[in-house]
Amino acid sequence: MSLQVNLDGCGIETGSLLQYRPEAEKKLEELWSGKTGFTGWVKWPHTMKESDFAAIEDAAERIRQNSDCFLVLGVGGSYIGAKALVDLLCIESSQTEVLFAGYHFSARYIEELFRKIETKDISICVISKSGSTTETMVAFGIFRDYLIRRYGKEEAARRIYVITENRSNTLFDMATEEGSQVFPLEEDIGGRYSVLTAVGLLPAAVAGIDIRRLVGGAAEIASLDYFKGDGLDYAIARNHFYQTGKRIEVFEFFDPYAVFLGEWLKQLFGESEGKEKKGVFPATLLFSRDLHSMGQFLQQGTECFFETLIIAKEDAGNDVTIPQDALRPYAGKTIKQLNSCAVSGVYDAHVKAGIPVIRMETERFNAESVGEMMYFFETQCAVSAMLMGVNPFNQPGVEDYKSEMRMYIRKLDE
Ligand code: PA5
Repeated sequence: MSLQVNLDGCGIETGSLLQYRPEAEKKLEELWSGKTGFTGWVKWPHTMKESDFAAIEDAAERIRQNSDCFLVLGVGGSYIGAKALVDLLCIESSQTEVLFAGYHFSARYIEELFRKIETKDISICVISKSGSTTETMVAFGIFRDYLIRRYGKEEAARRIYVITENRSNTLFDMATEEGSQVFPLEEDIGGRYSVLTAVGLLPAAVAGIDIRRLVGGAAEIASLDYFKGDGLDYAIARNHFYQTGKRIEVFEFFDPYAVFLGEWLKQLFGESEGKEKKGVFPATLLFSRDLHSMGQFLQQGTECFFETLIIAKEDAGNDVTIPQDALRPYAGKTIKQLNSCAVSGVYDAHVKAGIPVIRMETERFNAESVGEMMYFFETQCAVSAMLMGVNPFNQPGVEDYKSEMRMYIRKLDE
């Protein structure tokens, strides 16, 4: 396990953690028993078949051969994890650029996307487990039509890749009828827990990321034993903070390429825990940028939050040395050195201010460590929600906005 979780700056007595370990382990066993429903992701890193990897890699290779752009259409769990992987791990310029749409209704964005792709060869990936989500289906309608006009119906169908549940729905039926390749989703893996299936892996593979190392990283820690002992202390600590009035968790990053990893965490925790008037509100900050906007609040504002620092000790890029004729004391130092000074400075200042700070460190963000980290957070999140007494795998509240919005859409016909 390369991810190190350090709770020394949290101000929690070891006794408080020990007290909750048996209950947390019971929740973990419940998760592994599969009785809770939607827990297919728990064993997935070990059960994913060679044929699943091969189908994704073959499709990715075809896409990289015939497309300059790969346009991924999806929303929520059907795009955030994929974008997190591409942003974080596609550092060397891949021959095929992975773009995302279908997660908002911005006409300007669509217009600019059309401008961007007009001289490029493209393929599309539409991801929707239910095959009916409005944002995704609207974007698919627009870009499928564009593909047909550009390539003709048959070639368009060959350039469309569909990731959806393995049963009849609008998307599944259309893809089957038109002959597009379908990657069926496991029934018992919900959207925000699906990043290590084709949902995250196909876009990642197109971006040149080694998906076997990604799933391999998750497989390293996917066992009941790994999370025993102090393995669930993070979930326990979150619940401790929640009980003591800290209702916000601020995930903090020092790498601009990790912003979408933060978005992924926000969705994972927000949608899994936030129900029945319970849950820790997940927020994200990028440092050192946000130290110049939110740093003041963190240091001296309302004490309603705790912080989780997510640090890669080694930035994946080559280091940059500050020229000797630059201002002292920076001259001759490197950007990586300064970033680690920012990490240490933030940690010390916030701990000294009495803020509970959890410090998570990995050597560097690479396919293995990110696979491991994502699996780690999925497990901690599910256990944390179960400790709070809520079902981590449903999202009944999301339906409310959907039905209200559909009502307004129907009214457009009146
Ligand atoms: O985590 C979830 O289940 C949701 O965020 C879904 O991923 C999101 O609503 C998109 O749903 P679908 O994949 O059915 O289009």
